[in-house]
Amino acid sequence: MSQEKILVTAALPYANGPIHLGHLSGAYLPADIYVRYKRLKGSDIVFICGSDEHGVPITISADKEGVKPKVIIDRYHELNKMAFEQFGMSFDNYSRTSLPIHHETGKEFFLEFYNRGILVEKQSQQFYDEKAKMFLPDRYVEGTCPVCGYEEARSDECENCGSLYQPTELKNPKSKISGEKPVLKETSHWYFPLGKYQKRLEEYIKEMNEKFGWKENVLQYCRGWFKDGLGDRAITRDLDWGIKVPLDGVEGKVLYVWFEAVLGYISSSKEWAQNKGDENLWRKYWQDPETKYVAFIGKDNVVFHCIVFPAFLMAWNDGEKVKYCLPQNVPANEFLNFEGKKFSKSRNWGIDVIDFLKLFPADPLRYTLAANLPETRDTDFYWKEFQLRNNSELADILGNFINRTFTFVHKNFEGKVPAKGKLEDIDNEMIKTIDEYPEKISKLFESYKIRDGVLEAMNLARAGNKYFNDSEPWKTIKSDKGKCATTLNICLQAIYTLAELMNPVIPFSSEKIFKMLNAEKTDWASCGKENLKAGHQLNNAEIIFPKIEDEIIEKQMENLNKPEEKVEQKTDETVSIDEFLKIQLKVAEIIEAEKLEKSEKLLKLKIRLENEERQVIAGIAKSYKPEDLINKKVVIVANLKPAKLMGFESQGMILAAEDEKGGLQVLSVNNSVKSGTRVK
Ligand code: 2FM
Ligand code: ZN
Repeated sequence: MSQEKILVTAALPYANGPIHLGHLSGAYLPADIYVRYKRLKGSDIVFICGSDEHGVPITISADKEGVKPKVIIDRYHELNKMAFEQFGMSFDNYSRTSLPIHHETGKEFFLEFYNRGILVEKQSQQFYDEKAKMFLPDRYVEGTCPVCGYEEARSDECENCGSLYQPTELKNPKSKISGEKPVLKETSHWYFPLGKYQKRLEEYIKEMNEKFGWKENVLQYCRGWFKDGLGDRAITRDLDWGIKVPLDGVEGKVLYVWFEAVLGYISSSKEWAQNKGDENLWRKYWQDPETKYVAFIGKDNVVFHCIVFPAFLMAWNDGEKVKYCLPQNVPANEFLNFEGKKFSKSRNWGIDVIDFLKLFPADPLRYTLAANLPETRDTDFYWKEFQLRNNSELADILGNFINRTFTFVHKNFEGKVPAKGKLEDIDNEMIKTIDEYPEKISKLFESYKIRDGVLEAMNLARAGNKYFNDSEPWKTIKSDKGKCATTLNICLQAIYTLAELMNPVIPFSSEKIFKMLNAEKTDWASCGKENLKAGHQLNNAEIIFPKIEDEIIEKQMENLNKPEEKVEQKTDETVSIDEFLKIQLKVAEIIEAEKLEKSEKLLKLKIRLENEERQVIAGIAKSYKPEDLINKKVVIVANLKPAKLMGFESQGMILAAEDEKGGLQVLSVNNSVKSGTRVK
């Protein structure tokens, strides 16, 4: 069989913040496991990623800090690159979309489409901030949802009720930059006629699915988009930051980030080729129809990778130039949540990769995440589960099997692989089991069932322990040394196979195991066989998976609810309107109230905030009887980090002022104000 040629890309993360565990589970870890596995299979593979450094996410972060976008992207590109390295991501290249090579690629695609008359130029009305003298991208405008009345709705989409509408329908629009009411101003943009490609896209996905088996969740998303019907998509924006539209006389316009970011896979591959000293090497992958191209992403990126990007490539391929290959598969994952809730930077909920790796090595994290990948539905990271996977699986099953085998061989066979003697049924069965695993796991990895593949690999370690127990070498060493030697020989062959099969998921530990075995990795095909010759000298054993103590985990769990360190604020310090607006003051209705036992001061309240119910612990028990509070409309800080008070979670804070006698009076409004209304 000829060598399989594979191109693997993983979504380019925005360089506007640190990547967290959710990002790893969504796209990066499965991609890395797949790539490492394919390398062991002997495929000719290139693995591409990089930072997505344009677009509004970057400018918003820059505005928040009052710095230039360049400061943000430099910081987070380096940070994320380092986090990925420490996590063991084995990218062949990690590029950045701010590089000239990428700007050239973006412009080349735009001009190709423009020159061939594919793009449509259209006038539209867009919000414009007269004070800041700039057009406002969608995320820079908020207002009241025309459907549900939610007051912090985005310009074209309401987070609260999920409605989509035209920005012109938004009520009370407000610029997030100046706080002023924006005006509608005419602007022109270039649109890619996605609708014209719908039929071909549907056929493409159907064919790829038939040939390569796409994931059901991915197909579902695509069906949804097709059902709604694809229309023209603007591929330019009125913005300063990005790739300038390469047309004479056009000022202040850049390519839309989602137009060029997907092309970042191509430019990153070009950079990789340059670094390799053969600047055309990337073409060997991208421009060969035989290439198997697999794009790993999270579910929020499905439309761009299954529909938009393939349409761009189809449009390009319709022209005269050398053609690109389209993704053969896009095995997108759902999301990973954190301890039952969405990751949230503002609520300090979750943990960044770089911080995690300051506390624990990469492999236990890789294993825990891999064993619980959100392949078919959202899953959660729990600290307790992390500890359990490390202590009860990595340490007690895999680590224990390795450790007892090594200890035994060092003690009784001078640390040399004992020779096999006569095989009994139990031995033959174990040999067969070892031999079956590579193929079993292969099948799962090939169909992107990474999670099942990883869990299956641990089953071989389980089988190893069982074989060790059932063979009772501690008895046979006295009664039948030949039989004992056979047992240990087979255990060592199993450990070799485990080191290889586990290599894609726990590469650092796998390397340690190979070092202990005093052996090199071979390839996937031969790893289930007998790889260690009798008499082969082993190295000393070391503990590969130290246990994680309860206290360390408990400390992490406590940190979760801790409000951030208090910064001393001088009273005369002023705050900007932006800083003030960060604090969401909202009207909430108290629907239940009870005294907290053991506390004189605290009341446990249930409040209604629009459609949401929350629990708030308030220190007002000395001033209010619980029953007097029911149906009262009070003002709360709605985006306060949740905190624990006397063991109860409080999701917000009620505002109150002290009266002359030291009693507290809660700030309240009368019943004509709806709960959820923002106080400004
Ligand atoms: O969702 C994101 O983080 C995007 N930056 C992913 C881009 S993937 C590709 F287009 F580059
Ligand atoms: Zn709404």
